[in-house]
Amino acid sequence: MGNVDDLKPIFSPRSIAVIGASRSPHKIGYEILQNILVQGYTGKIFPINPETPNIMGLKTQPSVLAVKDDIDLAIIAVPAEFVPKVMTECAKKKVKGAIVISSGFGETGERGRQLEDEVLQIARKGGIRLIGPNTLGYKDPIDNLDAAFVFGMPRPGEIALVSQSGALCIGMIYYANGEHIGLSRVISVGNKADVDDADLIDYLNQDPSTKVIAMYVEGIKDGKRFLDAARRCTKPIVAIKAGRTAAGSAAASTHTGSLSGSDAVYDSAFRQVHIQRAYDVIEMFDYARALAYQPPAQGNRVGIISNGGGAGIMIADWCESIGLKVPNIAKKTADALRPHLPAITSARNPLDVTGDARFHRYHATGSIMLSDPNVDALIMTCVHAGIARPREYVGAVIKLVEEKRNLRKPIVACWVGGPDIDEVVQELRVKNIPVYASAMRAAKAVRCLYDEGRRLELLGRQGRARQPNGSQ
Ligand code: COA
Repeated sequence: MGNVDDLKPIFSPRSIAVIGASRSPHKIGYEILQNILVQGYTGKIFPINPETPNIMGLKTQPSVLAVKDDIDLAIIAVPAEFVPKVMTECAKKKVKGAIVISSGFGETGERGRQLEDEVLQIARKGGIRLIGPNTLGYKDPIDNLDAAFVFGMPRPGEIALVSQSGALCIGMIYYANGEHIGLSRVISVGNKADVDDADLIDYLNQDPSTKVIAMYVEGIKDGKRFLDAARRCTKPIVAIKAGRTAAGSAAASTHTGSLSGSDAVYDSAFRQVHIQRAYDVIEMFDYARALAYQPPAQGNRVGIISNGGGAGIMIADWCESIGLKVPNIAKKTADALRPHLPAITSARNPLDVTGDARFHRYHATGSIMLSDPNVDALIMTCVHAGIARPREYVGAVIKLVEEKRNLRKPIVACWVGGPDIDEVVQELRVKNIPVYASAMRAAKAVRCLYDEGRRLELLGRQGRARQPNGSQ
């Protein structure tokens, strides 16, 4: 197991030096210092710049060697060729951790690889753990520390995001913010010269603020270390592995100097260690949100409620085509449903409560379906048809999730209607209830919760299950 304590000075620093803090608002070293200050960091900050006596009202020092206090974390934003010298000074100063923002290393070819190795060796000899190079830094919305360039923070939440791409990392934060998905820690790993995915899985596994680990990965250098960390991780991991094709793989090698490797090998390795694989950002967050806020499904049998037949049929198709079942409901359930349904509707699964349903019918049928012993998970669908009551249905889903928590059966919503109902759907997002705009996404989220149920069962048999998830 990686030593997670080594990473504490990086992620919970008592003091930070920004090396290359700049006077110019157009430079990255300016933005990093600004972001740390804006978030109200309460530790000590030391801007390092030999050219000016102060920046943003803070006294600068020409080098870390001139700082009298101890330094936990150095954030380095000087051109690549100066990084070995700066790292040597950090080692002399006994700085504990470093983030090398600078690019111009392994991703640029042989000369860059040598420079990266030189910096790594200096850091290792000095006992410094190192994130990067070629990284954005990290953003921590739980402890309010923005140790990255690019302005803006994620919403605080329970999903940790680890990304090998800095720019995509920012895009993912803004996507998550728009979807009302909260994040616990956002870490851009860059070229992963030292701290890699395995270290971060171990670190986040013991982080009390993180329930789910979401990752964007281009390449993994030490497969065994990665798989060992994933295997011992008790929290669910969702990962995008990019560079799946010849074109993608070539692009990854110049982006972060990664060797993408055979996709089939990654696929089978992820399966072995129960990493849920996603193929794009939306899918990754679809799974992460469900895993963070709904209990795992104990079986693969799905109940479906819709206010329009077509939506229910499509969900049934998707469920059956990805290894879920749409079971017949018990006779007792059908008998209980009938008084709530119009005479023309059959009491079956998927259940069409018809377009004129109001709060009570939608809520009562959902509640009865959820209590059926043949049903392990429920998908509640709303199509924004003329006489539908999306706002009432949202109220019904929120009530059901609150009332039925003790059943430990996941409830997922599928809301089809575009921008017209977006404000209504937002009420579900704010409550952290997984809601998806398509049958495919809703069914896949349930499949993901079913896989998580099986993973936990296996861990349980091995005697190392985490506390069941699903606090909502
Ligand atoms: N110690 C401390 N400060 C130093 C220094 C040293 N040894 N050498 C230079 N500086 C100061 C400079 O004087 C300058 O401050 P000033 O603007 O007030 O004069 C500041 O550090 C920055 O140095 P500069 O030479 O102007 O570099 P830059 O800001 O143009 O570029 C990087 C530096 C790191 C941003 C750039 O090289 C780089 O790598 N950019 C890409 C980063 C990136 O995309 N990373 C990956 C993201 S996913």
